[in-house]
Amino acid sequence: MSDDKNRVYIFDTTMRDGEQSPGASMSLEEKTQISRVFDEMGIDIIEAGFPIASPGDFEAVKAISKILKNSIPAGLSRHSKKDIDACYEALKEAPRFRIHTFISTSPLHMKHKLNKSPEQVYESIKEHVTYARKFTDDVEWSCEDGTRTDMDYMCKTVELAINSGARTINIPDTVGYTVPSEFTKIISTLKNRVPNIDKAILSVHCHNDLGLAVANSLAGVSAGARQVECTINGIGERAGNASLEEIVMAIKTRNDLMPYKTGINTTLLSKASKVVSNATFPVQFNKAIVGKNAFAHEAGIHQDGMLKNRNTYEIMTPESVGVKQTSLVMGKHSGRHAFKEKLNDLGYANVTDDVIQTAFGKFKILADKKKHVYDDDIAALVDDSLIKDKNVINLKSLKVFAGTGEPQRADMTLDVYGDIKKTSETGDGPVDAIFKCIKKLYPHEVKLQLYQVHAVTEGTDAQATVSVRISEKGKTTVGQAADTDTLVASANAYLNALNKMIIKRKKTAPEEYEQEKMKGI
Ligand code: KIV
Ligand code: ZN
Repeated sequence: MSDDKNRVYIFDTTMRDGEQSPGASMSLEEKTQISRVFDEMGIDIIEAGFPIASPGDFEAVKAISKILKNSIPAGLSRHSKKDIDACYEALKEAPRFRIHTFISTSPLHMKHKLNKSPEQVYESIKEHVTYARKFTDDVEWSCEDGTRTDMDYMCKTVELAINSGARTINIPDTVGYTVPSEFTKIISTLKNRVPNIDKAILSVHCHNDLGLAVANSLAGVSAGARQVECTINGIGERAGNASLEEIVMAIKTRNDLMPYKTGINTTLLSKASKVVSNATFPVQFNKAIVGKNAFAHEAGIHQDGMLKNRNTYEIMTPESVGVKQTSLVMGKHSGRHAFKEKLNDLGYANVTDDVIQTAFGKFKILADKKKHVYDDDIAALVDDSLIKDKNVINLKSLKVFAGTGEPQRADMTLDVYGDIKKTSETGDGPVDAIFKCIKKLYPHEVKLQLYQVHAVTEGTDAQATVSVRISEKGKTTVGQAADTDTLVASANAYLNALNKMIIKRKKTAPEEYEQEKMKGI
């Protein structure tokens, strides 16, 4: 840890709290790919998961712990020795690691969620922080629902957690209820009233239910907190967590008012956002820092000002967050070697030869169809190939008959667990006909929650990225796919969501999954 009193540590929880958002579950490969980007970007602590929650979470924390070169991996545990043991088992191969243990301290949570008295919670802090310290010096303690906790009680529990060995004390605004002035007061009170507070780093963890997560986090830092817990793209439970990119860029851009330092290489923010959105869901266009429109100037008066002096309407440069002007990259004569180099530049250094081969084949087809092939087109092709690599149901062919008058019809061939199956369906529009074909070839009961189409680049020959969100028995998955043919992208996006749902079923009900496989559906 640094001696610089203005150094703010960035604790990322995209793969733990972020993954708790509906539709954001990530595969092991996605998590390792994300971790490599985070590690390179300079995130101080990466909360890789909640090891006791599932075997998948445990394996992910274990795998991430082994690959990090700079960041410290952390695992979450409740106040339970089993949870803490699981954290240790998952993290132990890392040279340094953190155990993050938490319990609720608000009257509401203690009574209705834990069914424990304040005295019992107090005793539990001593027992479990002390137990976690057996495994590592780096123990973080959180008082869940901190912002609805009685202040005198919070001061007592924080003092005890530090005396029991916690070196980071995290104050969560679990339900996104606080406002900046109130949160400033909470952090200042802890700083002023807890006698041993200088032995720990104070941390803030804010949720965005009232849209105040970033403002509250920054208020916490200004009042003395030196760790911020946040997620890329602000993903997280309900309305999400404080957005990492917004916090880091606010500190950097308004350093005159917030003279703090983070260790983040901000030019990797855009890449981090993409790698997370590819694994979870698309980012809204007007999202600060990483949205597609964040650096776009539409009004003529703004464009005129920008041409005269960029500072007129630009408070930070797109380059400072890693946004490059969309560049013309390659044409149909570009070879495999140049393509591989381009993938390295775009941050796909670790993809397998098979994926490169598939993406290169698609690039050649695209370059024949489309006048200009841009960086974003190439990224969409690789992402699409990465997705298909893991699918057990794949689109083999699709023909769609659409237009006025006739009912729209789709003829489809699918590869379902290695069996080639064909069908034809009509529907209310071509997309409806396509989704009906999939349902006939692979019978399933899911609810379509969202269907969204975006153009990857400009022009009528642009590739379309389609996002589909489906739900089944309370579980949600999101699928994405890109193609110059919007209908092919629609079929592939739905199949991608369905393939992810199959993986989810396999994780949560492996027996049902095996029976289903044997039935051949
Ligand atoms: O929001 C919250 O309270 C949490 C804790 C587990 C830190 O995520
Ligand atoms: Zn949280």
